[in-house]
Amino acid sequence: MCGIVGYYGYRDCSDVLVDALSKLEYRGYDSAGIAVFEDGNIKIAKSKGRLSDLVKKMEKTGKPKGIAGIGHTRWATHGEPSDINSHPHCGKNVTIVHNGIIENYRKLKDYLISQGKTFVSDTDTEVVAQLLDFYYCRHSDPVKAIIETTEDLEGSFALAIMFNDYPEYIFALRRESPLIVGVGENESFIASDVPAILKYTKNYYLLEHNEIAVLGRYGAKIYDLHYQKLQKELKTADWDMDAAEKCGYEHFMIKEINEQPTSVKTTVLPRIKDGMPTLEECGIDDSFLCGIRQIHIVACGTAMHAGVVGKYAIEKLARVPVNVEIASEFRYKSPILDKSDLVIIISQSGETADSLAALKLAKSLGAKTLGIVNVKGSSIAREAEKLIYTLAGPEIAVASTKAYMVQLSVMYLFAFRLAFAKGKISQSECENYIKLLNEIPDKISEVIENQLENSQYIASKLINSDSLLYIGRGLDYALSMEGSLKLKEISYIHSEAYAAGELKHGTISLVTEGMPVIAVATQDDLFDKTISNIKEVKARGATTIVVLKDGVELPSDVADYIISLPKTIDLLMPMIACVPLQLMAYYSALLRGNDVDKPRNLAKSVTVE
Ligand code: M6R
Repeated sequence: MCGIVGYYGYRDCSDVLVDALSKLEYRGYDSAGIAVFEDGNIKIAKSKGRLSDLVKKMEKTGKPKGIAGIGHTRWATHGEPSDINSHPHCGKNVTIVHNGIIENYRKLKDYLISQGKTFVSDTDTEVVAQLLDFYYCRHSDPVKAIIETTEDLEGSFALAIMFNDYPEYIFALRRESPLIVGVGENESFIASDVPAILKYTKNYYLLEHNEIAVLGRYGAKIYDLHYQKLQKELKTADWDMDAAEKCGYEHFMIKEINEQPTSVKTTVLPRIKDGMPTLEECGIDDSFLCGIRQIHIVACGTAMHAGVVGKYAIEKLARVPVNVEIASEFRYKSPILDKSDLVIIISQSGETADSLAALKLAKSLGAKTLGIVNVKGSSIAREAEKLIYTLAGPEIAVASTKAYMVQLSVMYLFAFRLAFAKGKISQSECENYIKLLNEIPDKISEVIENQLENSQYIASKLINSDSLLYIGRGLDYALSMEGSLKLKEISYIHSEAYAAGELKHGTISLVTEGMPVIAVATQDDLFDKTISNIKEVKARGATTIVVLKDGVELPSDVADYIISLPKTIDLLMPMIACVPLQLMAYYSALLRGNDVDKPRNLAKSVTVE
């Protein structure tokens, strides 16, 4: 959570910092701030609220002018969102911005107070600023002060730091929380994520844990905690600038929904050879797959929902048992694992704290591990033994859409190859599944084209409801979970996903006149059963929205609204049926006047427990 940036170069530093922060606002957006060296002195502007509030404030007060500085966009953990708790925070000689959590901040704060330091904010960050100051007073050497401070800190964090006495330099440190150093012509950058620097350069160093960066006139230098200078590999981002821009769309979410056909192709095509799925480039061959006796898919939120679809696909085709676990539960429940178990961690960001901890736990218990990750070089990508990248490009909207879609794609590829390796499906069956998977991108485009207006219309009928239900059976139930999450996180309308057959065991008592019930009914073998469940809610006054395949006959008086979708095999229907659910969530949020891309209380990358 939180995004940090730093700059040293020749441009107007305030402008660069604000622009870079605008690409990181998905990480947190309850306050923002910058600090810039202006004529040798540090000038700070910060404000509660969005980055746009900070910009408005600076329009009145004047923006700091200079060529070196740091910036921050916040998702509050310690202390409410307020001007005072906004970053940057200061010690006497030091100004910092921080992403992450200092776990032992209480103890350190008590110690610093006993040494005469005073605090103005409730943040853990101010403790770091004061501690840096404490060690700087002892050494008068910024890097030594950073090293000693780091030794005292517990937790995961990334810092960008300015020392009053060093107006020609910006310092940074990474432990766990992501941080890159962008390298341009006569300028360098610090950022929590690549999109922040893409406008200026594609070249960057990925800082490892406990590495220190120093930006200055000569460029960027990187040191370890022994103050040894390091030679790092310069990486080149393969995302272009458009990936981090709205490109004419009103919101990132709708742009990303529209990018789904391309994202699926980009993710699937490189993993097909001679019509067969191949994961060998990811280090996954048939002998590895044959050794798997049980699978645990561990993830959070949308990524976990992709895992539930994966479970159905893997169990149906490969006949390997799969548990899907919420990462924050898995990590504390003493899981039973051994070397024939595969733990799959799914994560868009690759930085989700609970998923990362679950991965480390699985490794320590001797299980095989596989990461399915979107962000290259992220912590989960580097920690997992086997790795399949989803190739969706950057996902900026907090509500995940295209990342979910490519997570589904990888789940299917994995299920097909596993089933083939285990001898549960023949080569021609496997080739046929791949052929059908290849047809999905065009069908997604068709849904976006044909269901956009219908979804918008149905959304207009939902937006005054207090609560609604999503129901389905089998894969339709798995998809309902994601539909429900999407709606609630951005429209703020309460909803629940329910296995359609389970309703009558309690939840149906919630159904009253006019309550919307979205029924996903795309599975042929379960269709009649789901229709019976729809009739049950209809008989109790529900307004029903039925999602089904083109050409399927629906009994009269079952649906108030119908969403009819292009056909594929039932197994792949979630990739098609999720699109109208995404669109309905998008338009519900839009019509309610919500900030679609930055819903309240949320952040995209959840790096705290
Ligand atoms: O980066 P991750 O995929 O690990 O994130 C997991 C969840 O935080 C994420 O999917 C969240 O549920 C999304 N906001 C849902 O749209």
